[in-house]
Amino acid sequence: MTSPARAGRQTATSDEARASVQAEASSAQSAPAEPVDVSATYADSNVPALLDELDSQLVGLKPVKDRVREIASLLLIARLRERVGLETERPTLHMSFTGRAGTGKTTVAMRMATILHHLGYIRKGHLVVATRDDLVGQYVGHTAPKTKEVLKKAMGGVLFIDEAYYLYRPENERDYGQEAIEMLLTVMENNRDDIVVVLAGYKERMETFFHSNPGFHSRVAHHLDFPDYSVDELMAIADLMLEHQHYRLDDDARQAFREYLERRIPQPHFANARSVRNALDRAKLRQASRLVRNGGLVTSDELARIDESDVRQSRLFNEPPPPSPPPTQGTSAARV
Ligand SMILES: Nc1ncnc2c1ncn2[C@@H]1O[C@H](COP(=O)(O)OP(=O)(O)O)[C@@H](O)[C@H]1O
Ligand SMILES: [Mg+2]
Repeated sequence: MTSPARAGRQTATSDEARASVQAEASSAQSAPAEPVDVSATYADSNVPALLDELDSQLVGLKPVKDRVREIASLLLIARLRERVGLETERPTLHMSFTGRAGTGKTTVAMRMATILHHLGYIRKGHLVVATRDDLVGQYVGHTAPKTKEVLKKAMGGVLFIDEAYYLYRPENERDYGQEAIEMLLTVMENNRDDIVVVLAGYKERMETFFHSNPGFHSRVAHHLDFPDYSVDELMAIADLMLEHQHYRLDDDARQAFREYLERRIPQPHFANARSVRNALDRAKLRQASRLVRNGGLVTSDELARIDESDVRQSRLFNEPPPPSPPPTQGTSAARV
């Protein structure tokens, strides 16, 4: 049997596919409950390709990737259930992303927004990132318009609230954050079909925040925890970043960079993949200075190559090495 979704399979753009999923969903009540083609609908949504991209472009994060896949399946099946006339209340999509800095929370939220859009759950699929400063004013009457403005921008997409716990300041008797919190809770409830809110931040602080704000906790359906990366994963992230930028570490530089990471991880303000990006930026600066200093002719290979000295000039190598074996990141690592 050929479903309309399958008929459009060869040519449908993701937008058309999404529209067809939605159109079929909205005619659910009248349609006879004939079998629906899971594979075709899934392929038409373009979500399998997006998930493959997530797999290949982000190192590690296995538990996160598994959860994203699960959520995508849940939403696809919810659509098909609608189509055959089962249920349907829109699934709650608000989420919490917990983990330390640089573990990929914002990046995955962006991908999630695209996936939700392709499955027809949000109109536009863009991501708006906001922190307390974007939502909460300093003076009476300033908070509501600020929060409203951010919500307006985020409608049809995903609102990512970074370090969400800063909204809540129990120590201040009348903190304006409370006003923003109340508006957010209202929108999360009443505009569930037009906005998805992702609350992000360090795990322990988020747990305390949810404990003090059960309204948020009860509105969040999916909790995704982003683990710290291992040294091997950080090395793989470095390779991926350099490959995109047409640089590479030579063998000695690679060994030096691994040692650099082992020293950097236990330091304050270590920020996982973001620290890798920053360290590579500094290595590129040193490489450029070295090449200019040496002058003369250079090959494209030399222009791409980061050598050991570009890495070892980091001031981290002037300090004593960490106790061996090098500490691994884990729950006991100090959070900053
Ligand atoms: N698993 C990963 N693989 C490759 N790059 C990553 C990975 N996780 C994070 N990055 C990169 O690291 C940087 C910081 O990630 P981000 O999503 O902003 O982290 P967070 O929001 O948790 O602080 C970004 O440039 C991102 O592309
Ligand atoms: Mg972030």
